[in-house]
Amino acid sequence: MAVRGRTRLWIASAATAAIVLPLGWFWQQSLLPDSYDMAAMGVADWGGGPVDDHAAMDGMEGTAVADLTADLDATPDVSETLTVRVEAGDYTVNGTSPGPLLEVTEGDLVEVTLVNDNVQDGITLHWHGFDVPNAADGVAGVTQDAVLPGESFVYRFVAEQVGTFWYHSHQVSHEQVQGGLLGGIVIHPADAGTARADVDEVAIVHRYDGGSTINGELGTSTLDAQPGDEVRLRVVNTDNGLAQAWVTGAPFRVLAIDGSEVNEPGDLEHTAVRVPAGGRVDLGFTVPDSDLRVDFSAGTTLLVGATPAGARPERPHETFDPLSYGAPVADLGFDPAQPDRTFDYRIGRRPGFLDGHPGNWWTVNGRLFPDTPMYMVEEGDVVVFRIENGSSDTHPMHLHGHHAVVLSRDGVAATGSPWWVDSLEVEVGESYEVAFVADNPGLWMDHCHNLPHAAEGLVAHLMYAGVTSSYRIGGEPGNAPE
Ligand code: C2O
Ligand code: CU
Repeated sequence: MAVRGRTRLWIASAATAAIVLPLGWFWQQSLLPDSYDMAAMGVADWGGGPVDDHAAMDGMEGTAVADLTADLDATPDVSETLTVRVEAGDYTVNGTSPGPLLEVTEGDLVEVTLVNDNVQDGITLHWHGFDVPNAADGVAGVTQDAVLPGESFVYRFVAEQVGTFWYHSHQVSHEQVQGGLLGGIVIHPADAGTARADVDEVAIVHRYDGGSTINGELGTSTLDAQPGDEVRLRVVNTDNGLAQAWVTGAPFRVLAIDGSEVNEPGDLEHTAVRVPAGGRVDLGFTVPDSDLRVDFSAGTTLLVGATPAGARPERPHETFDPLSYGAPVADLGFDPAQPDRTFDYRIGRRPGFLDGHPGNWWTVNGRLFPDTPMYMVEEGDVVVFRIENGSSDTHPMHLHGHHAVVLSRDGVAATGSPWWVDSLEVEVGESYEVAFVADNPGLWMDHCHNLPHAAEGLVAHLMYAGVTSSYRIGGEPGNAPE
């Protein structure tokens, strides 16, 4: 009896050990050091192209991220100082949220000084959708250190793109962005021949703790316009989830998506337009003599002209599809049919440990952060990404520093205007093929813009061979980009 009892106990202990030891190993393996070099993490994926030296992983000399700047000596055309404060979780930039709208002209050298008044966690500014030099990208621990209370940081970039963009913190971003550390930036074309719309306005759609807003105003807002005015309404979705907008009272057009003009946009009516988290859509319409309104899925409304409210119209059944909207162009500027590298970005979910925390975490190509892919490119490469959402939640995917053109969705080729994106809603079960030219050296995040998802590990990076890190995640400044 005694012997058999001991055997049983031994078997039970061995069985327990067989479960606990590997778990302990996985737990231990997932623990991240106090500080680490993002460029040295992950699994190098060369996308079927030539395998070059990866300076950061091979400990070689290379071009440092901190040196990838705009001209530091030239005199800026536009200078702004943005000072951030936080009060009980509510963030302001120069006293308001959204912060000041920055309006500049194409070709301007822009200089923005970010000042941290009292944010203990530190802050940064990322120029969402704006393909700035890497050192101005504003990602804590990747392209700079978090700016601590009493400190400041200077961003410099030439406004080479035209269109609607926004800025937001990329330090503890899942808290700070929702809390209001954000604002809009619009770049107007330099060409005097490009007439500006009679009414050119930004509508930042954001849900604060106090409710859903347009430009910080709860409920119903009004846009000043006269019958006959041409309006360009720049909708910016700064939330974590999809925004939808529908125009009632006149036909409208989608003039631009994520800051890129649509080629030959056609008239739309009774159609809802989806704006992914982080994305922008410029709507164009002529104000009629009668009522015109733009309603948003968050429950907010923009009345155009001081027309009476009336009943809120239902969301139309029709949904705008950029895949077949507008007209194609003869020349994209590159040939996506001959890519130098092709990458998979397969999104999934599985149980495991993230920095020692057990949970059901997001995966990229089956791997948990930070063992997600390090997509390796060389300058000049034509790159194709196949993004596939095999999880049970939708993901607005955002690549920093580059604009990609959509080639196909679920195997159906794009037939309309080139659909350039920096924020792409990839719904459950959907797959997209997108392409871009690797023309902006650096270390770039490629992540979900439902920011809590990023904090749960839905993050990978695009890395140029020969670039080395200048900053570390964690460490003294407490760099925590997600
Ligand atoms: Cu708008 Cu990585 O962010
Ligand atoms: Cu997501």
